[in-house]
Amino acid sequence: MGKRIFVFDTTLRDGEQVPGCQLNTEEKIIVAKALDELGVDVIEAGFPVSSPGDFNSVVEITKAVTRPTICALTRAKEADINIAGEALRFAKRSRIHTGIGSSDIHIEHKLRSTRENILEMAVAAVKQAKKVVHEVEFFCEDAGRADQAFLARMVEAVIEAGADVVNIPDTTGYMLPWQYGERIKYLMDNVSNIDKAILSAHCHNDLGLATANSLAALQNGARQVECTINGIGERAGNTALEEVVMAMECHKETLGLETGINHKKLVPISHLVSTLMRMQVQSNKAIVGRNAFAHSSGIHQDGFLKHRETYEIIDPAAVGADSSSIILTARSGRAALNHRLATIGYMLSKDQLDQAYTQFLDMADHLRKVEDENLHELMRGKVYAK
Ligand code: KIV
Ligand code: ZN
Repeated sequence: MGKRIFVFDTTLRDGEQVPGCQLNTEEKIIVAKALDELGVDVIEAGFPVSSPGDFNSVVEITKAVTRPTICALTRAKEADINIAGEALRFAKRSRIHTGIGSSDIHIEHKLRSTRENILEMAVAAVKQAKKVVHEVEFFCEDAGRADQAFLARMVEAVIEAGADVVNIPDTTGYMLPWQYGERIKYLMDNVSNIDKAILSAHCHNDLGLATANSLAALQNGARQVECTINGIGERAGNTALEEVVMAMECHKETLGLETGINHKKLVPISHLVSTLMRMQVQSNKAIVGRNAFAHSSGIHQDGFLKHRETYEIIDPAAVGADSSSIILTARSGRAALNHRLATIGYMLSKDQLDQAYTQFLDMADHLRKVEDENLHELMRGKVYAK
């Protein structure tokens, strides 16, 4: 058995902040139910103080979904916290995710405050949240760029005040994997009461490193990972749930980490979120993209047809994807053409295949992709028996 990592999904909060991706309450409930079936441990359902609609969605999600912990975001303000507590009142297991800036850039320029004042606000927020929900998570915003010793003081102070989980966000997606890993290790080694809480990784993808950074945090002692379906989120997005979970699964012997995720639901929920949020998934997106299990070059197709694992590290069925596909293009080889022709009913001798392949290349040079109907056209009128 590996070390259990808790999966905190923020598709409905950080993910929903993407312009044009807003969902109504009914749609949010559909996504929350799918996240429940997927097996996430925590659903961040919204930011109740932000609008009456978001408040209402959090209330309705707590009524519709009871297995995972339902979490709501707040600023480190008493009014926000009380409103979130109110929105979470029906939750079987409720969590408030409160926090404040931890880097000097945030403290001086955004909050126009001082480190000491910020520490006081952080502690007060945790104490207030403790009164209204079952669990409290504290986020040290912009922890990636915070002074390390001050960050450790903040983490220690909020744990002392009662935080159950402390989130160390790389809010701007700035860190490199080993830097983020070292930051988590530093906190694990230098915060005296670290055994009373767990650390959480929350990474943004501005440099395309969110998944790598999350894994580095988990390797160095973080026990919770925050992510979104399809990696949606502010700017370049958040850690993609499907990526970080499948990386843990594929490398479970090396990493010794496991989650409660039902992998077969990954592709279906990706499609659901993409449809409801009207946000297409890029074709080459890991795990859930249209081309994630498509093979188009001759060398790859030949290897794949001899043994699937030559070019596939995941069985598509394991993540709920359709079977792997062989895409016929001008880069395809004889083996792929022969395979496709046989699948649609044409059994060719070696000479016939050579002739058909020459004609196929002519055709493929003019088409982006050769479909079955093009192959039927190629075969029509030919002497080849069907
Ligand atoms: O990226 C971030 O810092 C956040 C916090 C609100 C947790 O989303
Ligand atoms: Zn974020």
